[in-house]
Amino acid sequence: MTQEGLPTEAGTGPREPLVKASGLTKRYAVRTRSGRRTLTAVDNIDLTVDAGRIVAVVGESGCGKSTTGRLLLALERPSEGTVTVEGKDVNELPKKELRRLRRDIQPVFQDPYDSLNGRMTISQILSEPAQVHGIAPGGSRSVADLLELVGLGSGYAERYPHELSGGQRQRVAIARALALDPKFIVCDEAVSALDVSVQAQVINLLSRLQRELGLAYLFISHDLALVRYLAHETAVMYLGRVVEQGPTEALFADPRHPYTQLLLAAVPRPRVRGHDSRAAVAMGDLPSPLERPKGCVFSTRCPLATDLCRTEEPALRPVKDGTRTAACHYAETAEAVA
Ligand SMILES: Nc1ncnc2c1ncn2[C@@H]1O[C@H](COP(=O)(O)OP(=O)(O)OP(=O)(O)O)[C@@H](O)[C@H]1O
Ligand code: SF4
Ligand SMILES: [Mg+2]
Repeated sequence: MTQEGLPTEAGTGPREPLVKASGLTKRYAVRTRSGRRTLTAVDNIDLTVDAGRIVAVVGESGCGKSTTGRLLLALERPSEGTVTVEGKDVNELPKKELRRLRRDIQPVFQDPYDSLNGRMTISQILSEPAQVHGIAPGGSRSVADLLELVGLGSGYAERYPHELSGGQRQRVAIARALALDPKFIVCDEAVSALDVSVQAQVINLLSRLQRELGLAYLFISHDLALVRYLAHETAVMYLGRVVEQGPTEALFADPRHPYTQLLLAAVPRPRVRGHDSRAAVAMGDLPSPLERPKGCVFSTRCPLATDLCRTEEPALRPVKDGTRTAACHYAETAEAVA
């Protein structure tokens, strides 16, 4: 995941990752019928996103993907751990510097219906970020330039969000994220609400923009096929932990963590000789994040779980000659479970 330690182009010391999370933990105080409890949404994760790279975060609903995204965007403060952007701890920055940094890190959320102000024209929506940041007209990308970047003609400038289709609205949300020339975009289920054919168009747009503008993405998604297509690296989360991470192609070709194996086995595949296209994968119920299993977090659902698994938590450690990391006692040796 990390390129830390690589020399800079000038050969003068280590290159800072664009975004780096270290020991990142987020706990929420929640009310339950049995009183106040602590819910650990993100538990001690390390993640780096280098400039110009796409890092995907996958895992079942509630595993902590969006919380991780919000922490990396400095929309929430971690309970423990740090988030740095180009070496600066975002939670230690003076207000003015954090404001400046916010130009570099931008979100694109799932639902453009919610995230675009219906009373504003597209032109107003796309001009707003520069106004909020006090950038004079001409100091940032023009509305026409932004619309062109996302494949919408300038004719859309005076329209309102409700006059646009879902795909067009998401293009506007992407254009707004690009308004201040960011370096890093958190795409949180950015295409999940769209029809499949429109999804493909918006994914191609995100892919083209990433290459042309040298952007880095944290790409949060339930859709493993999309992740495989788009992401350079993938982190698999389970109950707030990263359980496997590494280069996407290697991880998908030979997943070492039983949870990754089961997740991948549930991805629809083309029909082969009359077999059902979706492998039946029975994982049982996801434990409540309030009752996280002792030992390995996956032990209550893992077909390979042993007594060791139920008592000792496996560390996320290098496997497969260091090509990736996995948090499983048997990551190197176990037969695939799916
Ligand atoms: N503000 C909050 N207060 C209390 N609990 C929260 C809060 N935000 C998230 N959680 C809890 O933290 C856990 C992780 O939530 P998160 O939204 O990050 O998951 P997710 O992986 O994005 O899920 P999904 O795929 O459904 O979007 C969940 O159990 C969720 O209920
Ligand atoms: S440590 Fe044990 S329970 Fe956890 S994933 Fe590995 S085999 Fe399964
Ligand atoms: Mg989410």
